[in-house]
Amino acid sequence: MNEIRDPYYVDFSVTPYCNLKCSFCSASACGKYSKTYEISFDEVKDIFNQFDENNIMRVSIEGGEPFLRSDILDILELVNNHMFSCYINTNGTLITEEIAKRISTSGVEKICISIDGPEEVHDRSRGIKGTFKKVKEAVGYLQKYDVPIDAIITLTKINAKYMIETFDVIKNMGINNVAIMLLATVGEASKNHVSIDYSEWKEVLINLTDLKKENKLPVNLQIVHTGESQLPWELYLPLMEAGREEDLSMWIPPNITSSLEESDFGCTAGRDNLAIDGFGNVFGCSLMISSMELSAGNVLKDKLSNIWRNSEIFQMMRSSKLDNIEGKCKDCKLLYKCKGGCRACAYAKSLNYKFSDERCPVCRGERIWS
Ligand SMILES: C[S@@+](CC[C@H](N)C(=O)[O-])C[C@H]1O[C@@H](n2cnc3c(N)ncnc32)[C@H](O)[C@@H]1O
Ligand code: SF4
Ligand code: SF4
Ligand code: SF4
Repeated sequence: MNEIRDPYYVDFSVTPYCNLKCSFCSASACGKYSKTYEISFDEVKDIFNQFDENNIMRVSIEGGEPFLRSDILDILELVNNHMFSCYINTNGTLITEEIAKRISTSGVEKICISIDGPEEVHDRSRGIKGTFKKVKEAVGYLQKYDVPIDAIITLTKINAKYMIETFDVIKNMGINNVAIMLLATVGEASKNHVSIDYSEWKEVLINLTDLKKENKLPVNLQIVHTGESQLPWELYLPLMEAGREEDLSMWIPPNITSSLEESDFGCTAGRDNLAIDGFGNVFGCSLMISSMELSAGNVLKDKLSNIWRNSEIFQMMRSSKLDNIEGKCKDCKLLYKCKGGCRACAYAKSLNYKFSDERCPVCRGERIWS
């Protein structure tokens, strides 16, 4: 059994509801709306105190859409009283000038705002017309009050063809740091067919790699793959097939220190991180919140420290080993380097935590190693 360390970071969904309708929503929050918060302000206060008690270093406030809560600014102002650094993930549609001003004096370090494409593409991605205009206004207000902003592009069939235009749009808004989130097939994305095909992804990645190599990307670009590994299949397979393995180092930060052993899954859920959904349920990772069977407990009913140390689900996550992986990964020569993809995606598809992540073409039997 691995040693139990304190959790390092938490994704905290302060509401399960949202005003937009993204067909890929990992939180299955799309179009669900209620004015009743499931977690009260006093409960948020108590949860923040528990974050300090558990030595948590970083908290991402998210949802659903956090700015749907009318008390969100009071919540953000609590952050100054705590030890953790705090980011917010938002769709940006509800940020007015007044809100931007108050964010600038709260303890929040950075806003991560979703921008999936140029106007028409973004609106299609987010399921509601007029969304892009509101995000653009929000960015202007946040910049007026010097709030640091990163842009997040969630990559799907809807926007894959428009990456370069999207970078230009984001750059023209005055944002330099951009992350492309590779789609996790969980929540709505496990039901709707919005993932791009592997062959299309390969084309996008090679194109981005060429541009990055030639210093022609207009923004600082990161590609956020799922799982902690030196050879994540999402990046390694396409580059390897193109005979460009050496370019992997352009996307994987050098010297990432991993707390995982060689035989562990490349999954830090329940080892370094946890997530709390908008009802107080605790999970290993925010990508697990649509799989209730993976809930480790509820922070409105039990102490976070007790859930973290003693829940059977977290113990199962900590003791899971690559040797026990099931499905096609078992015979893959890359297993101990790739570390088997994302556990949330594998579970959402198979209801088996140890199964292969079938987003990978090798797992689907579409690629056979010679
Ligand atoms: C769950 S949302 C919550 C915050 C806010 N509502 C928003 O959309 O920015 C956090 C981030 O996850 C991204 N996301 C949603 N579903 C995803 C999925 N299936 N795979 C990867 N990222 C996803 C969103 O686009 C957003 O950038
Ligand atoms: S991804 Fe964000 S904006 Fe889209 S439906 Fe989910 S919570 Fe709402
Ligand atoms: S479930 Fe595990 S592998 Fe997937 S994103 Fe979360 S921590 Fe990473
Ligand atoms: S089959 Fe499994 S171990 Fe091999 S590359 Fe795909 S996800 Fe990684």
